[in-house]
Formats: sequence, C-alpha cells, structure tokens
Amino acid sequence: MATPIDPSLDLAAEIQRLKKERNAVVLAHYYQDDDIQDVADFLGDSLQLAQTAKSTKADVICFAGVHFMAETAKILNPERVVVVPDLEAGCSLADGCPVDRFKRWRARHPGAVAISYINCSAAVKAESDYICTSSNAEKIVRSIPEDRTILFAPDRNLGRYLERVTGRAMVHWQGSCIVHETFSERKLIALSERHPDAEIVAHPECEEPVLRMAAFVGSTTNLLKYVVASPKPTFIVATEPGILHQMRKGAPDKTLIAAPPLNETCACNECPHMKRNTLEKVYLSLRDLSPRLEMPEGLRERARVPIDRMLALS
Ligand code: 13P
Ligand code: SF4
Repeated sequence: MATPIDPSLDLAAEIQRLKKERNAVVLAHYYQDDDIQDVADFLGDSLQLAQTAKSTKADVICFAGVHFMAETAKILNPERVVVVPDLEAGCSLADGCPVDRFKRWRARHPGAVAISYINCSAAVKAESDYICTSSNAEKIVRSIPEDRTILFAPDRNLGRYLERVTGRAMVHWQGSCIVHETFSERKLIALSERHPDAEIVAHPECEEPVLRMAAFVGSTTNLLKYVVASPKPTFIVATEPGILHQMRKGAPDKTLIAAPPLNETCACNECPHMKRNTLEKVYLSLRDLSPRLEMPEGLRERARVPIDRMLALS
C-alpha cells in the first residue's frame, strides 16, 4: 500500500520538485482535470502525445491520460520508465474491441487492409496494418490503394465520418465512445436556437447527425486551434469538456458552451476513464514510480510496426 499523502503538502509544488529529481515529464491529454493540465509539461491530442513520448529524453514519462495512450508511449520509447496515475483508466472503444474477436473479424476479410484507431489495445495494434488518430485518419485512409478493401476499427462514428469525407467505402467495427455518443442532435438544435450566433464544433467520435450540424470537425488540438483562431464570438463544443480549460486560456473573450449530454442529470459528457486520474495520483506515481506500464517485448515490437507506418505518414 502507498504511504498516505500528508494533507498539508502543496501537490503542484511537490510534482514540480519530483519532476526535477526524477528527470521526469508529465504528458497530459486535454480531457484531464484542470489541475493536472496545469502541472503538465506537454498537452496534446493523441498524435502529438505519441510524437512527444517518442522524442522525449526524460528518464520517466508520467502519462496522464488513458491506458492505450500510455501503452503507445511505452511502445515508442521502451527505454523510459512510463508511469500512470491510474492503471485502470481505460477507454470504451478499446474495451469494446477484444483482440480475439478482432482477429476473427480480420480473418473473414482476407486481403483487406486493417486501419485501427489509436484508441485500441496494444494487442489489437499488433494485429493491424495501420494505426490512425483523429488528426491523421483522413490522410491514412487516402494513402491506401483504391483496389484494397479497408477494415476500420473500433470507432464506427469516426469510420463513417471518414467514409463521408473521403468517399471511400469501408467495413466498420461496431464500436463507439460512451462520451461522444451522449451528445444529441435534439439538444444541440435547442441550444443553437438559444444561441443563434454560436458555431458548433465537434470531435469525429460524435454520431453522424451531430457531425452534420458542426461547422468544424477535428481532433482535440484542431478544435482548440479552430476556436482560438476563429473570429466568431460563441461556440458550442461537442467533445469532453476538459478541452474548455485550454480553450478559455486561448480565447478568454469568447463564450464557450459545453454540449450537454442527452440526460442532463448525469455528467455523462465527462470521460469516466480520464477522470480516474487525480492530482494526488499524479503525485504518487512520480513519488513511488508506480504503477508502471510494462508489456512483453514481442508484443511491443509487433504493435510498433503499424504505429511507425502512421508516424511516417503524419
Ligand atoms: P484526440 O486524439 O482528438 O485527442 O482524441 C482522443 C480521444 O480519446 C477522444 O475521445
Ligand atoms: Fe475513450 Fe471516449 Fe474516453 Fe476518449 S472520451 S478516452 S474515446 S471513452
């Protein structure tokens, strides 16, 4: 059991001290709580976090995100110690795509190219031809020769969106994100009527009717850049509301409205996996260098191949 935390500690200051002592960096995703984002050395979308994890010279990477993201860091930079605030921080997309079922699905489509969204386990990555993220998926799909069938897993919403923008038919795995499927077209129409000046921006994990209402669709980083650069004064943001922390910093004069979940009595627009991480757990992971992300070397090597193909195209 970890030694309990002294309640008088200034956790943010202690984290800064431990980072120096351990030669560690904290990488955080935009869906983390504000206090975690504020101690991070680097914030980014899945692609930028993977690229940063690959290039860091730090001895320790503390990955404040979800399991598949920390796994990707370890795959790309195995020499580093990768610690996570909470090993149980998963992802509904990754959980909904077990490797045995994925292999059987692939086997039913001989000769097809399998593109897997980075929100999947290392085991599924190892069985895939290409990995993609929400920021490079269109480019990866367009790079596949026209005569090849594409299997796209595990997010059917991102897959259908890609089909629409590239005109390329694909065979879809039927997975979805429990957070992004909570946004409803009906609620967004009502909200837009109350804020006629507002522009809707959405993550491509949202369902098709929501994406069709959006003026801009993109990864978390691209949503942030769009909102900051746009001359519009008001935005309805259809993704996890953690992103609003950086949007408010980048666009302090704009009105930013988090898209509501279908059932407003719940907080189901917040990712319960991302929110398992707390500032206390970030501190403990750096203090104890635990829990660590480990994986068998053979699996790591096989999972790296489709990630490297993605990075070469990014
Ligand atoms: P991004 O790569 O856009 O940050 O998305 C990660 C994710 O899990 C979205 O739900
Ligand atoms: Fe997974 Fe959805 Fe959470 Fe992103 S928001 S980590 S896709 S469950």
